[in-house]
Amino acid sequence: MKPVLSVIGTGYLGTTFAACMSSLGFTVIGIDTDAEKVRRISAGDLPFYEPGLQEIVITEIATGRLIFTTDFSLGKDADVHFICVGTPQKEGEFAADLTYVYGAVAQIVPFLKSGSLVVGKSTVPVGTAQALRAQLAVSAPHVDIAWNPEFTREGFAVEDSLRPDRIVVGVTNDRAEEILREVYAPLLEIGTPWIRADLPTSELVKVAANSFLATKISFINAMAEVCEAAGADVTVLAKSIGYDARIGNKFLQAGIGFGGGCLPKDIRAFMARAEELGAKQAVEFLREIDAINLRARQRVIDVVREMLSEDLAQFKIAVLGAAFKPESDDVRDSPSLDIAAQLHAAGALVTVHDPKAIANAKRRFPALQFADSVTECVADADLVLHLTEWREYRELNPADLAALVNSPRIIDGRNVLDRDKWKSAGWKFHALGRTDS
Ligand code: UDX
Repeated sequence: MKPVLSVIGTGYLGTTFAACMSSLGFTVIGIDTDAEKVRRISAGDLPFYEPGLQEIVITEIATGRLIFTTDFSLGKDADVHFICVGTPQKEGEFAADLTYVYGAVAQIVPFLKSGSLVVGKSTVPVGTAQALRAQLAVSAPHVDIAWNPEFTREGFAVEDSLRPDRIVVGVTNDRAEEILREVYAPLLEIGTPWIRADLPTSELVKVAANSFLATKISFINAMAEVCEAAGADVTVLAKSIGYDARIGNKFLQAGIGFGGGCLPKDIRAFMARAEELGAKQAVEFLREIDAINLRARQRVIDVVREMLSEDLAQFKIAVLGAAFKPESDDVRDSPSLDIAAQLHAAGALVTVHDPKAIANAKRRFPALQFADSVTECVADADLVLHLTEWREYRELNPADLAALVNSPRIIDGRNVLDRDKWKSAGWKFHALGRTDS
C-alpha cells in the first residue's frame, strides 16, 4: 500500500507537488486556509500560471486520488504531511516570516495519526526543523519530522517535480528515511540521486543553492558593468567563460537581474539567520550580490535618461514583460515591473505588456497603463524596454514595430534580442553590458 499524503499550502509549490504525486499513483489531500484558492483549484481553474499543471490537476482530480480542501481534519488519514506554505520576507527586515509554517503545523497537529511523518518542504532558516521537532515532541510525541527541500523552478515545476535532479532528505532516524524512500520510490526507480542529510544540512542545502545561483547572476551582471565601462561585450564574455566546464554556461545571462519569490528573499533571510548564528561575515558577500542585482535595475533607468532626457515627464515608454521571468505570471519582486513603476514615478507615461502576468501586475501597480497586445503597447512609444524574455518578444519583427512607434529606440534588458536585426530595421539599440557598436 502506498502511503497517503497530505500537502499543506497549495501555492505554486504545493499544488504542483500534490498533482505530480497523484499522477504517480498516490492519494493526496491538498489543504489550504484560502477558501477561494481551494475552490478554484478544485474547479480546475488554477489561480496562477504554471505550464502543463492545470491539465494534470484536472486529470488527477477526476481519478479521485487528488482532492483540495480547507478542512484540516481530512488530513487525518495521511501517513506523510508535506508543509509547502510560503516563507516571505518579513516587512521591514531581511528575516523570513515563519508564521505560515508554524500555523500549518499547529493546524494539522490535532489530526496527526500515530507514526505519521511531518515533512517540511518550505524554504526556512536553518534551525527551524529542530525547533519544530522540539515543539512536536510536546504537542504530538507520536509523530516524527523530516525536511525535504524542493528545487523546482517556476515555469518548469512539473518537469522538476517528476524528474528532479536530486532528492535531499533531512532525517533523524532510519524509519523516516524509509518512509520517504517509499514516497519517492517512483522517482528513485528512474535513477534520481538520493541524499540523506541531517535536519540543519537539508535546510541549508536549499539556501546555499539559491545563494549560489544568485551569485552567478550577480557575477555576470557585475561583469556587464565593467564591460560597459571598458567598451567590451558581456554576452561574448559569458559565452567564452561558460565553455569552461568548471564554470558552465547556465545562469550567466546578463541583464536586469534576478527577482521572484525565492532568490531575493532567500539570500536576505540567509544573511539574517547567519547573523543570528554568529556567522555574519561568512555570507556578508550576499549583501553585495543583492546590491549588484538592484543596481542592474537602476542602470536601466540611467540608460533611459541618457537615451531620452533627464526629465522623463511626458515621454511614452513601452515595457515588454512584467513577470519576473518568462513562462510565469509571478510578479513578486519582478525587476521588470520595478523598473516600470520607477519610470512611472519619474513622470514617464509607461505602458506594460505581458503574455500572462498583466492581472497580477495590475493588482500590484494599478496606476500603470496595461496593454493587451504588443502592438497596442508600443504605439507611439518614444522608447521600448524589453525586460522579460518571453519567446514572443524574440520573434517580433523589428521592421513592423518600427512603423508603430514614435521613435525606434529599444533597450534589451535581457540580452536575447538579435541586435543586428533590430539595427538594420532602423532601431537605436542598447543592451546592458554591450557597447552600442
Ligand atoms: C529559483 C531556483 O532556481 C529554484 O531551484 C528554487 O526552487 C526556487 O528559486 P525560480 O524563482 O523559479 O527558481 O527562478 P529562476 O529560474 O532561478 O530565476 C530567478 C531569476 O533570475 C529570474 O528573475 C531570472 O530572470 C533571473 N536570471 C536567471 C537571470 O537574470 N540570469 C540568468 O542567467 C538566469
